Amino acid sequence: MYKIQEFNFANKKVLLRVDLNVPLDDHGRVVDTHRMQAILPTVRKILQDKGSIVLLSHFGRPRGVYTSKYSLKHIVPALSQVLGQEIIFSENCIGPLAEARVQKLLPGQILLMENVRFHIGEQNQEKYFAQALSRLGDVFVNDAFGVMHRADSSIVQLPQYFQFKMLGYLVEKEIAIIDKILYHNKAPVTAVIGGAKVSDKLLLLDCLLDSVDNFLIGGAMAYTFFYALGGAVGNSLVEKKYTNQVKLFLEKAEKKKVNIQLPEDSLVVRKIDPLAETCVVSSKHIPENWSGVDIGPKAIQQFNVVLNQSQTILWNGPMGICEIPSFSFGTQTIAKTIARSAADKKKMILVGGGDTDAVFRQIDLSPYAVPPLSTGGGALLKYVEKKTLVGIEAMQKNYI
Ligand code: 3PG
Repeated sequence: MYKIQEFNFANKKVLLRVDLNVPLDDHGRVVDTHRMQAILPTVRKILQDKGSIVLLSHFGRPRGVYTSKYSLKHIVPALSQVLGQEIIFSENCIGPLAEARVQKLLPGQILLMENVRFHIGEQNQEKYFAQALSRLGDVFVNDAFGVMHRADSSIVQLPQYFQFKMLGYLVEKEIAIIDKILYHNKAPVTAVIGGAKVSDKLLLLDCLLDSVDNFLIGGAMAYTFFYALGGAVGNSLVEKKYTNQVKLFLEKAEKKKVNIQLPEDSLVVRKIDPLAETCVVSSKHIPENWSGVDIGPKAIQQFNVVLNQSQTILWNGPMGICEIPSFSFGTQTIAKTIARSAADKKKMILVGGGDTDAVFRQIDLSPYAVPPLSTGGGALLKYVEKKTLVGIEAMQKNYI
């Protein structure tokens, strides 16, 4: 595989796979440009070398059917603003018209192809689709970190058709940060893990056991822990069939002397409703018919003490139902603590996973520093679990 920093893109048509799966509001406007900003270093390098760019991305999950709301044309104005130039749009990503547009592309220009997931061949990993895509460039660069855990055609099949192929700067950077957190960290290392389901996170917890000193566990997944330990969890979301796995994890953690902290108290409600009456109770003694929806004030203090002492922090998953403002205080306060830690440049921090980085858009961060936010949700977790991604393996393979 070639290295992007060593490659000269002069007069090359570069097929650049990116992840422009960005959130839109009800009017089809982009509400978060983080994933667009993140590809800027790769885009600049290619354009400065006087190459041209053919951008390839998925958007949503249209499952092989053209669906207007998943058209990448919605993102053209925002992308053009972030990349600082006109974006030419192609209504299809394969076929004679798409190829004709590529033919006309001049050095310095950017062409965005329509959503690759409008073709069933993308997610069915079909070779014909990758072959058709491969006609759109002389060089292939994969900078789509957020989707490199998916065995989609443009991720795992496409690289085999290129002699010149390489990872982009964003992928290189994301991998370097995770590797640093896992292998070259500074103790104490703390992983803050939240979210609704423990089943989604058990593998991650297990894989992190050798790298961390503390786990701070929040979100509804904490109630499966309390249930496994014999606590009363009321109506809180519990995955009873994972009780044994949780117990096994706790035993392993004890043997490895990893400190597991569960939230001392919780904000509870009788009904999941933004206007519901709330009260704070011990997380081990949640009354019948009440459900935990956020960590409580004692838990916030308890978690803050650990975070303030930590030199390395990895955060994935909210502490409660943070999309409901009245249940988001715990998640927002932890976000502020982490943002304050990020102002200390000696500390290593990484935040990743859909809902987690969204929190940093809801709060005023001006007195603090924005911590490094991964562009990957599933991809970040998969990399921590597997230490590689199918998209990286496909790029490393020697096909000749
Ligand atoms: C994401 O938003 O996590 C990536 O773009 C991957 O999207 P997917 O989960 O629809 O494959």
